[in-house]
Order: sequence, then C-alpha cells, then structure tokens
Amino acid sequence: MKCLHTLFKKQVLFILVGFSYVSATVVSTSPPTSKVKVQSYDYVAGKSFTGKIYVKNIDLTKVVSVIYSDATGDWNNNANLVKAAFSESISDTSYEFWTFSSSPISSIKEFYIKYDVSGKTYYDNNGSVNYVVTTPPPITTTSSSPTSTVTETPPTSTFTAFPSEGISRSAMIRNINPPEAAKGFIATSLSTSGPDYYYSWTRDSALDSYVMANDYNTTLKGDATIVGLLKDYVTYSINAQSTSTACNCLGEPKFNADGSSFTGAWGIPQNDGPAERGSSFILIAVNLLKQSSDDTYVTGTLKPGNFINYFSVKFSCNRCGHI
Ligand SMILES: *[C@@H]1O[C@H](CO)[C@@H](O)[C@H](O)[C@H]1NC(C)=O
Ligand SMILES: *[C@@H]1O[C@H](CO)[C@@H](O)[C@H](O)[C@H]1NC(C)=O
Repeated sequence: MKCLHTLFKKQVLFILVGFSYVSATVVSTSPPTSKVKVQSYDYVAGKSFTGKIYVKNIDLTKVVSVIYSDATGDWNNNANLVKAAFSESISDTSYEFWTFSSSPISSIKEFYIKYDVSGKTYYDNNGSVNYVVTTPPPITTTSSSPTSTVTETPPTSTFTAFPSEGISRSAMIRNINPPEAAKGFIATSLSTSGPDYYYSWTRDSALDSYVMANDYNTTLKGDATIVGLLKDYVTYSINAQSTSTACNCLGEPKFNADGSSFTGAWGIPQNDGPAERGSSFILIAVNLLKQSSDDTYVTGTLKPGNFINYFSVKFSCNRCGHI
C-alpha cells in the first residue's frame, strides 16, 4: 500500500509572482517632420535605460547617439553616451526605428539625441530643453524587523493572486456530478468547446478523489456529502473499468459524461491513470475504515478485484493488494 501512496504525494504549489511596472514615457506616436525624434524611453535607476527613436533614412551610414547628464547635471563633456542601433524600417515612410539599451546607469537627469549622417549633425533635444528623466520614487526597504517589507511605489499593478485553495476546492466540487451526467462523473472542465474538456480523465478524477479522501480523514471528518461524492466516484470508476473502450485496455484515458468510453482519437493507453485510480480507491478504503464503520462497503464494493488487477500487472509491488 505504501508503495502506491508514494507514487503521487500531492503537493500544493503556491506561485508568488511579483510585478514591477515601469511604464515608458511616450514622446511621439508618429514619424516627425524633423530628421530625428524620440518615440519613447524608459529609465530604471541603476538598471536600464532603453528607448526608441524615429530616424529619417537619409543615407546608408548613420550614427545615432543618446547623450545624458547625471543627476548633478554633469554631461561629462558629452561623453555620457549610449549608441542606438537600427531596429526596423517603418513602412510607407522614409523613417526607421532605432533603439537603444544601455548597461546600468546609476543616475540620469536629462538627455538628448544626436544624429550624424552625410557629414551633418541633427539633434532632438526636446525644443532645446532636453528630455527630463523622472526617476520613480526609490524602493524603500524596512529592515528593522526580521522579515523585511519592501514597498514599491507607484505601480498601479494589475496583479491578481493565484486562486486560493478554497476557490480551487469549490471549483473541483462544482465539476462533480454536473446535471444529466452519470453519477460520479468528474469533469476535468465544464468547458464543452474551445477546448472541450467535458470528460472524466481517469487520472484527473483519481487525483480529485484522492484530495476528497484525504479531506474526509482530516478537515471534513465524517462529512456525509464527501462520502457520497466518493462513493459516486467509485461507482463511475468501476463501471468505466468494465466498459468496452477503443483500445479495450484498462489504460483508456478518458470517458464521457454518461459513463461510456470516449471513442475519438486520443493518446492511448495512458498507464498512469489506472494506477492513480487504484491509489485513490485504497485511500478511500483506508479512510472509510478509519472514520466510519462502513466495513461492508469497503470489503464488498472496494474489494481489490475492482481496481487492482491492471495495476498489479503493470507494477511488481507485492504489498499493493493488501488493504
Ligand atoms: C519637453 O519639454 C517640455 C517643455 O517644453 C516639457 O514640459 C516636457 O516634459 C519635455 N518632455 C519630456 C519627455 O521630457
Ligand atoms: C487518517 O487519520 C487518522 C487520525 O484520525 C490517522 O491515524 C491516519 O493515519 C490517517 N490516514 C491517512 C491515510 O493519512
């Protein structure tokens, strides 16, 4: 039995994703009348300075530079410089997009663009006042407590948290016994098109029932609804194992809502499903014996012959047949 259980220790994975949005400053959204013009730029102190520039295609050889001053206004004799590079032609115009991306720069106050072509130099310095770089408020780290808290402003983040465990569980329960389905049908999804996942995959249903069986022994001890759903699942699954299938093998991966086998094209067999179903049956049996006095159901309905045959052929696991 133990060897069955170790096959799929369930793990709940919480994914925490942090977003840090810095939206680029957009200067101009269409090609200019001048020879060179900033389209947009984005500066993150100590991290990146990137941008996009409209450049008129005057000659093959062009040099486009971004020249910036540091926070104190020092231009370093115009040697604070990032080279831009050709990115793409803008169709139906005589302009191209050039882009730049610097290595980390600790501070920038202003910048302008210098465009050298055919022995001439053109500038975009925002009408001679330069482009002003507004640095977002610094990240403040509070280190007075052992677990430091980081506050980042501004982002108006559209971050949505990973669905909570509660939401996932109620969604799982919602997919069991949908209207007009055979008792114990656990839909992998209620979606019937784009994609159509309205089937009971042996694997998915087994994992759901494994969670429910575990709940029955822990947070939902003695819960009649959960026992009912588990027994429905057992009924559906026993039927699935004696239903004729396209491959006529126990590794048939998915079944229809009415309990019949899916006969379309699919990757068959899928041998993990029956093993997971067997493991769930065992957990249901063990926990029913522990939490209820329903021995008859366990020895009558959940008897090994109803689920273990395929499993014992596939894996040599001597102790698996013993509940
Ligand atoms: C360009 O200059 C104007 C003043 O003429 C200023 O208000 C504006 O913020 C500058 N644009 C950028 C992106 O720095
Ligand atoms: C079920 O819960 C009991 C305690 O009530 C515990 O002894 C037993 O190990 C649990 N069963 C499983 C399979 O975890």
